[in-house]
Amino acid sequence: MTHSLALVTGASSGIGRALCFILAEKGINLIISGRNLNELEETAQVLRRNVAVQIVQADLAIPHERKTLIELIRLRAPDLVINNAGFALYNDAILHETEKQMQILEVNGMALLQITLEAAKAMKAHKMRGVIMNISSVAGFFIFPCFSVYAASKSFVNELSQSLDYELAPEGIRVLAACPGMVDTNFRVRSGGTSNIKKEGLMTAQYAAEQIWNQINQKKRLNIFNWKYRLAVLARHFIPQFLYSKILKKILKKDANDFIYRHGFRALDS
Ligand SMILES: NC(=O)c1ccc[n+]([C@@H]2O[C@H](COP(=O)([O-])OP(=O)(O)OC[C@H]3O[C@@H](n4cnc5c(N)ncnc54)[C@H](OP(=O)(O)O)[C@@H]3O)[C@@H](O)[C@H]2O)c1
Repeated sequence: MTHSLALVTGASSGIGRALCFILAEKGINLIISGRNLNELEETAQVLRRNVAVQIVQADLAIPHERKTLIELIRLRAPDLVINNAGFALYNDAILHETEKQMQILEVNGMALLQITLEAAKAMKAHKMRGVIMNISSVAGFFIFPCFSVYAASKSFVNELSQSLDYELAPEGIRVLAACPGMVDTNFRVRSGGTSNIKKEGLMTAQYAAEQIWNQINQKKRLNIFNWKYRLAVLARHFIPQFLYSKILKKILKKDANDFIYRHGFRALDS
């Protein structure tokens, strides 16, 4: 299937931005969204060398800010929709503002749900085939202390996407979920991780974006990136739950504590 118009959320940074460059190279016109207008405009300036780009500035954590995006979906019916915007908070859930934790669910869950359903309805109303690609995470497979709300939000994305895909595939509309492991973007530091992690173990945003583009073309329902993370997901069935969760918690807590030691908790919520 060739695509003519794509909507990408979280296009101002990381994986989303890298994806936009791949799509523009293929000649796919773009609607790009995020909060950071400067980053969106700078990105759009480069993308416009190849394709037409419309910018929608919106904080997806605020339901009424999603209105313009939803109206555009109904009006322009993009045949490729990439729900990529997302964020997390490291460390014990109760150490953060409850409202901030709820925003994780708004952005990673509710906004994604709304955009997915509206995009599928618009594709159907316009009698189009299309792909909705939801960027999830390998974290969605785990019971993950110190990453609780984020992991639960991505578990929702995995389950929702796969179920909807079975519902909508007969109509020519596919709903796919991509599950990267750790990618070298702003994500970790924004979540409260340290910036001094060894980069060798991380995927680049470009690599993650290429994997996502390949998955869109292959119409693969669910994709866990690379063998290490596939093994980690498989290992859940063999390692006792309490031990596995303890290991996962230790990894995140060490990273989070270091950040808090240097910056204080307030820095995470600003
Ligand atoms: N990096 C990783 O290790 C990793 C691993 C697995 C999955 N993922 C997933 O990959 C996706 C992209 O993350 P990334 O690694 O590229 O991180 P990133 O560089 O921090 O980019 C996140 C994007 O999401 C947007 N965003 C965040 N909160 C938003 C809000 N309230 N409203 C609107 N847009 C918002 C940001 O835009 P603004 O700043 O302009 O608002 C930004 O463009 C996320 O869904 C993340 O969960 C990342």
